[in-house]
Amino acid sequence: MAVVAKERLKSPRARLFVALDLPDEVREGIVAWGKEALVDPALRSVAAESLHITLAFLGYKPEKEVEQIAALVQDCAAPAPWVELRDPVQRPPRGRARVFALPALSPGTEVLQAGLEQRLVAEGFYEPEKRPFWPHVTVARVRPEARGSKRPAVVSDPPAMLPEGLSEAFLAVRMALYRSVLKPTGAEYVPLAQVELPGAGRQ
Ligand code: 2AM
Repeated sequence: MAVVAKERLKSPRARLFVALDLPDEVREGIVAWGKEALVDPALRSVAAESLHITLAFLGYKPEKEVEQIAALVQDCAAPAPWVELRDPVQRPPRGRARVFALPALSPGTEVLQAGLEQRLVAEGFYEPEKRPFWPHVTVARVRPEARGSKRPAVVSDPPAMLPEGLSEAFLAVRMALYRSVLKPTGAEYVPLAQVELPGAGRQ
């Protein structure tokens, strides 16, 4: 009884993050490349709709704050930044990989992220990460070594280089506030608010 009462007192929460969305062609290109490159059985590749550059991971926030956070994200819209993807790297860099990601070269994204972070911190929605912002697109996660284990399995066939087409610069398309819904099959990202970035589509 006491537990139920306590649960009721807690406001519903949403696991939130803000990300930069990539053009559909780029996401499809990454998925097509991944079919050849992310073949090690220890890898779980990220679906097209979940490929993005995270700008700020907010963690669990009361659902009633979503509207304010969405308005703040809207306010931070700026011209769409150019982005260049680089060959996959593992994280952490040493030892067993937990994820593979494409580093994103993009001074514009860094400026956008710094502005967003400043506003989120000023309004009390975000505690900045201690490590510097590292723009990247996560393309695969490593399955655990055994059921229930926290240790990642060994990846003996790590992803190879990107094809030339995917290393060319493109314009990001929008910024979005996502809700991350954790499921046994992996997280599902639900867009709660989207802001198109001016200049998007101009190639
Ligand atoms: P990743 O792609 O590098 O794993 C939703 O989980 C998104 O938020 C993912 O893209 C993830 O980044 C990012 N993220 C950043 N910090 C996180 C954290 N501490 N926990 C979970 N996700 C985080």
